[in-house]
Order: sequence, then structure tokens, then C-alpha cells
Amino acid sequence: MPAFKTLEWKDDALVLLDQRLLPHEVRYVELCSPDEVAAAIRDMTVRGAPAIGAAAAYGLALTARASQAASAASLLDELRAAAELLQAARPTAVNLSWALARVLRAAAIPADPKEMRAAVLREAHAIAEEDVRTNKQIGLNALPLLPDEVTFIHHCNTGALATVDYGTALGVIRTAHEQGKKVFVYVDETRPRLQGARLTAWELSQLGIPHQIIVDGASGYVMKTRKVDAVVVGCDRVAANGDTANKIGTYNLALAARAHRVPFYVCGPTSTIDLNTPGGDQIRIEERPEEEITHIAGILLAPAGSPAFNPAFDITPAELISAIISEGGIARPPFDWSLPRVVAAARKKI
Ligand code: MRU
Repeated sequence: MPAFKTLEWKDDALVLLDQRLLPHEVRYVELCSPDEVAAAIRDMTVRGAPAIGAAAAYGLALTARASQAASAASLLDELRAAAELLQAARPTAVNLSWALARVLRAAAIPADPKEMRAAVLREAHAIAEEDVRTNKQIGLNALPLLPDEVTFIHHCNTGALATVDYGTALGVIRTAHEQGKKVFVYVDETRPRLQGARLTAWELSQLGIPHQIIVDGASGYVMKTRKVDAVVVGCDRVAANGDTANKIGTYNLALAARAHRVPFYVCGPTSTIDLNTPGGDQIRIEERPEEEITHIAGILLAPAGSPAFNPAFDITPAELISAIISEGGIARPPFDWSLPRVVAAARKKI
């Protein structure tokens, strides 16, 4: 069992494991205001769609805790302003707006500001607790798709670090391992922030799951020359037609998987399924600073002045996805038919 907590509400503050320093330093930071939470989401102290959703929910709890508002109406105004600030921190993952909307809905019910403060914290805790249950269910739902000896390629980090605990695509790998399957994982290093090499390899080591790190460009070669049973990835936003936004490089991996007839599974909670967005073209892709590409650990590697283009996510078209595995079940193509069904099933289950 990994001995870390990605995020935790402790002594009226939000405590985050600083993911920028991993794997070499395990340091926690204590945040006391929504501005600090928004900054931590932006600079990727905390990252991964479900984790940033839960962190943002606690950002509203910090707003409520600090507020001097004497009426429910003015406290709600303060919460809405904080939600706007948090929402702007990273645009692609729908979990951020989903969690904020959920807390604001819970806050709008009590007529008394004291009760409203309690309702906000209660809802943030509920989001965090549900996330762990949801992830374990995703892992169990995936089991029938996997052979007893299974080799995966995994992209980015989708583990306990990207969620409140357990993980989504990495949770699928973890469940398979815990259930006695013989598991091996090729870990995409995931340029430019190296979530795979730094974070996924760190988690797999702690779980005792055999793995090797590969550069992102090696996945086609690995599929061609070695036995790969499944590609598993997470998601930041799944559109109603199944088009999926996830870490940059996911689309290339899906193309390679199709060429080698390897099943390509997207794993995520139904909170990442955005039925209000018709297709991938409508998903906003975050662009991050050029220095993430031109520098590594602060050292300039590219020629000084060479510009870089740094989209943080890409869209994998639905036709390259074999199935989308959620806590509500397995959605298969056509996704515009199956996704609403797994969303409805999840509402009953969790
Ligand atoms: O930029 P990041 O590290 O936040 O990107 C993370 C991913 O792309 C994950 O695959 C996704 O958020 C799902 S995490 C369970």
C-alpha cells in the first residue's frame, strides 16, 4: 500500500503532496485560501482530473471557512466568485467545473450562513470519498476485459496521485494485480512533465508491480515487437460522442494501438463524461508555457530563442477507442448511445 496522501483536509486547511518534487522529495504544502488552491492547480502541485476537482471543492471550503459574511446570500456570492477563480486555473478537465457546480448546488440549499459553511465542507468531503469508491469500482469493472497474464501500455499518471486515492487507468492495473493476474506495464514517460517516468513509475514501484519506462515514441515499436494486451489511459473530458481529451500523446498512442490491433481503453469516472459537449472539436485544450519543452529541471536544452508549441492535451477520436470503462460500467461504440447509459447506471450505484 502506498504511504502517501495526494490531498487531505486537515486542521481547517487543504494539505497537498507537492507532485512537482516527486519522486525524489516527498513534501506536503498547506493551503489556506482559494487563491492558493488555484495557484497549486495551475502550477501542477496537484494534477490529474479527479484530484484537481476535489482540490477545487476544498478551495470552496476554504472560502466558506474564512468568510465573514453575515447572510447566506453574501456567502453564496463569495463562493461563486471563488469558483470562477478556481475554474480558470485549468480549462480542459471537466471534473473541475463538475466539482465546483456540485459544491455550489449544495451550498445554495441552507438559508443560514453557518449551515451553508457546514454544507460546503460536507460536499467537498463527499466528493473526495466518492472518488475512491468510484475508482475501485472502475478497476473491478475492467477485470473481464483482461487476460490472466496481461501486459499494458499506460500513458501519463492516472494513479492515486491523479485522484484522491487508488486511481483510474492505474487503478485498473492495480486491481488486476491485486486480483492475482500476472501484470506487466510499459510506462510512457509522458513528455514534457514526465508524469509517467516520475509519478507512475513511483506508484508502481511502491505497489510492487513490474514495469519498464519507455519514451513516448517507443510505443509503436513495443507493440510491434513485444506482446501488448491493452493500452489503458485516463481522461480529462469525454464528449457525448466518445471523443476523449487526455494528456498530449494519447492520440498518437491510440493510432499506434489501432495499427497493431491492440485494444485501447479509456478509464475514468462518469464525472469526466461531459454529455453537454457534443464532440472533441468543442473541447478547449490548455496550452502551457514553452519552457516546459525547452527546459528540463530548469536547464535549457533547446537553442536559446527557438519557440515551442505546448498543448497539454489532445483529442482521441471515438473511432480509435475500444471501450470507456467507468464506475457505471463499460461503454462500447456507439458511444452516443452507451455513454448516457453508464452515466445513469453510476447515479444508482455510487
Ligand atoms: O496535466 P495532468 O498531469 O493533469 O494530466 C493528467 C492526465 O491527462 C490524466 O490522464 C487525466 O487527468 C486522468 S487522471 C485520473
